[in-house]
Amino acid sequence: MSCKTNEELTKLVEQARPFVKYGKVADYIPALKESNPDDLSVSICYLDGTRFFAGDYVKKFTLQSISKVIALAYVLIENGPNEVFSNVGMEPTGDPFNSIVKLETSNPSKPLNPMINAGALAVTNMFKGEDHYEKWEGFIQFVQSLLGIEEVSWNENVALSEFNTAFLNRSLGFFMKQYEIIHGDIEELLFLYTKQCAIEINCSQLATIGAVFANEGKDPVTQEVKVPSDVARICKTFMVTCGMYNASGEFATKVGIPAKSGVSGGIMGAVPHKCGIGVFGPALDEKGNSIAGLNLVQLMSDRYQWSIF
Ligand code: DON
Repeated sequence: MSCKTNEELTKLVEQARPFVKYGKVADYIPALKESNPDDLSVSICYLDGTRFFAGDYVKKFTLQSISKVIALAYVLIENGPNEVFSNVGMEPTGDPFNSIVKLETSNPSKPLNPMINAGALAVTNMFKGEDHYEKWEGFIQFVQSLLGIEEVSWNENVALSEFNTAFLNRSLGFFMKQYEIIHGDIEELLFLYTKQCAIEINCSQLATIGAVFANEGKDPVTQEVKVPSDVARICKTFMVTCGMYNASGEFATKVGIPAKSGVSGGIMGAVPHKCGIGVFGPALDEKGNSIAGLNLVQLMSDRYQWSIF
């Protein structure tokens, strides 16, 4: 069964909306405190290009950790899996997204996967380019190509707010520099990473990127290859095993689709061979996932039988 009307999606949003009151907007990045905890919106992009929406689906928000999947795809394409997986592992951690503990207890001290902050920093450290400008241009052009648009913006206020307060991420960076997992200047890396996390899109665009991954790397409308199919497959695998952090097992059990969350309240889903989904609901649960968004994705998965398991 698939979604037929915006009205039926709106009903699911209204069913999930009461959950917003049990969550809180992220506050460790000061600029994210301004988010409206009552927001909840969704977009589905089917692989024939048909789209459905509910809520304020054009409202922009920052990608935050959802950018980690895109950055992973980018370095897999540019640098190849051998280099990528010499610097970052493939195992879930069971720890919060910003935890440092496994860096100390694992040997070699490489981050366990590219979805946690340590792993994402190691990934961004692999962006190719002579300087910040070239590294950023290469990545943002990749994001633009996924969306099929000429310009994607980033929110300077959110990026600077995170850059000025990212002491934990700096610690992860210095720790990995000590063990030669990452190289170069940590401040420069943090600048690039916080900009990457501050890229702004809306639910509809998030669903488009989800649809590319769901469609084995091809654009859902034009069928143009945006990401090689093996890279899309690797990204979806990490979304299943690590995309919702230490809630990934519960999410796989209850919802069963490759998905990635971010602390701005976004969730990108890729339902293989069916559709991409973009959800935005800034009120988060204690693990940093959108609380009403999770509920909404579960309602949709039950109704449209999305679980891949
Ligand atoms: O590095 C950070 O902490 C943020 N820029 C991104 C973290 C995040 O989105 C975790 N997601 N639930």
